Amino acid sequence: MEVPRLHPDTIEEVKQRVDIVDVVSDHVVLRKRGKDFTGLCPFHDDKSPSFSVSPGKQFYYCFSCGAGGNAIKFLMEIGKRSFADVVLDLAKRYQVPVKTLEPAQRQELQRQLSLREQLYEVLALTAKFYEHALRQNDGKVALTYLTEQRQLTEATIQQFQLGYAPAGWQTLYGYLVEQKQFPVELVEKAGLIVPRPEGRGYYDRFRDRLMIPIHDLQGRVIGFGGRTLGDEQPKYLNSPETELFDKGKTLFALDKARSTIAKQDRAVVVEGYFDVIALHAAGITNAVASLGTALSVAQVRLLLRYSESKQIVLNFDADAAGTKAAERAIGEVADLAYQGEVQLRVLNIPQGKDPDEFLKTHTAVNYQDLLDQAPLWLDWQMQQILVGADLNQADQFQHCIQEMVKLLGNLPNATLRTHYIHRCAELLSQGNARLTVQLESDLRTQVRGQRWHGRSQKWQRPADRSLLEESEAQLLRLYLHVPEYRSLIRDSLEERDLDFSLSHHRLLWQLILEVQTTDPVEANADLISLLQDRCLEQPDRWGWVQPLFQLDEKTQRDLLRAPLVVRTAIASLERVMCEKRRRHFLDLWKQTDYAATPDLAQYYQQQIYAENQRIEEIDREQRQVTFNDLAQLPWVGEFQDAIGIAQP
Ligand code: UTP
Ligand code: MN
Repeated sequence: MEVPRLHPDTIEEVKQRVDIVDVVSDHVVLRKRGKDFTGLCPFHDDKSPSFSVSPGKQFYYCFSCGAGGNAIKFLMEIGKRSFADVVLDLAKRYQVPVKTLEPAQRQELQRQLSLREQLYEVLALTAKFYEHALRQNDGKVALTYLTEQRQLTEATIQQFQLGYAPAGWQTLYGYLVEQKQFPVELVEKAGLIVPRPEGRGYYDRFRDRLMIPIHDLQGRVIGFGGRTLGDEQPKYLNSPETELFDKGKTLFALDKARSTIAKQDRAVVVEGYFDVIALHAAGITNAVASLGTALSVAQVRLLLRYSESKQIVLNFDADAAGTKAAERAIGEVADLAYQGEVQLRVLNIPQGKDPDEFLKTHTAVNYQDLLDQAPLWLDWQMQQILVGADLNQADQFQHCIQEMVKLLGNLPNATLRTHYIHRCAELLSQGNARLTVQLESDLRTQVRGQRWHGRSQKWQRPADRSLLEESEAQLLRLYLHVPEYRSLIRDSLEERDLDFSLSHHRLLWQLILEVQTTDPVEANADLISLLQDRCLEQPDRWGWVQPLFQLDEKTQRDLLRAPLVVRTAIASLERVMCEKRRRHFLDLWKQTDYAATPDLAQYYQQQIYAENQRIEEIDREQRQVTFNDLAQLPWVGEFQDAIGIAQP
């Protein structure tokens, strides 16, 4: 039975009457907090309440996984139900009379739908057409290919809406344009047909191919990848970029993977469509693929939205092309990685297999093990330098050192640099302890030289970055060395719901909290030795912490003005958080169709505005703080008098 088309008036009326708090409360325990309500997000495994509901704006939003929308969207997502279904239910609940559309009205409305909506419709219908064709006689070869060569189950074929594009030149054209009366221009804009030169008609873009639909985050079809069933080139033919389909901003299967990415706090990026399909079929549902293009920063940012601790594993093919792709991806996101904004790991499957091939002879557990063991990107890059090199040959040894120096010289973070210089010396000396020591000091000198020469080039950090890194390290040092300030620091962080933004600082902070819950003495003078014991258990992981345990001259000086340092550091932490949130909402806002969802767009705008306000406030406070605090230093008064500045 066809679902009745609801009259827009009915939908509008339902939207007017429904109350989001009412609706969400059926599924989530909500607590009032100010004007809004908060609770545990039902769309990911939420540990602290990051789900907020605004009765004023009639919207929900999760700050961790990014789920958000109005009451209808909530019910659609939570119950995996269709729009019409949810609206009908709500109409009953709020006693709204239901009107449906007559066929004539439908046609009229059709014409009024925006271009994008029409494109969505054409693409959705095309996906259905291909799915149907897979079940016909012509599609037998394709279906057999899926079930036998690819060993896919019926459930997987349906889940990914796999299909078959028939062999003729105008099969889809005939269906969409002649039978369904879609305008040719529209079908062309959807990337489904290609015009012949000099206005001599159109032909189907995809012919005799296995069809893999590509979905947006809401699960709507926005394009296709088509695999040849024979030896035709290219092996995969993809939809061109269209109004709806932007390759650099889309990840294949992210719609299916996002909730698992949030739950497992880790995303896996692979190269191919069938790698993703095989992984999902095996139960590894946090996998996505880039679309035959290098992984872009925009795509990485998209993934980072869903993973709290920002873990991404790149699992590209181990062949030359795959290694290059991994290198390119690392290059793309290096800035983020250097700042600790993403914990990038690289997995190369033994024997050069891709995930799809690997899973034919191994289990999902085997694959998970590989993921868990995947080296961090820098370790991987160091390994890559050593692959095939014979360190007993003087020239090759020299070459490896040069490459390592280049790699390490790019590292802006001093503690990480120290850690990796040590690792590198260990690797190159192949277990010879005396050589390790010598190499380490040698490398340090060379890396310093390289950094010096490389100044003002690509890798120099923006000034605010180094300030943040410095502030965070100082805060940690103060916490460790001055027990009197511990509660101040902890409270300030908690009060503002702040965390360290660099991942290694965050790790140390977690360890501190952990160590202190087992031994919750605020003024525990042994905290450092407790931590040191823990860190010595895993020197590989914690090598970079060592400098924080030592009290350097600058810290000793800073101790004298600790409250100021704490305040400044916390302020810059908060500022970075605000900026991150602002960027996040800005991204969302840019992707929002104002005409279709004005309330959502407005909601994002308000959030952006609020973050801006807070940033300005912090800046104002900071100027005040430094001025006032400086004024207390003995020499400042004289200085002010001398140059004639008045107190504000
Ligand atoms: P691969 O050539 O590594 O293919 O392309 P694969 O996924 O292992 O292919 P199967 O297993 O033989 O089917 C990896 C990805 O690169 C893109 C596709 O997204 C593909 O999944 N690609 C590849 C193209 O877009 N066009 C091509 O011609 C080839
Ligand atoms: Mn493959």
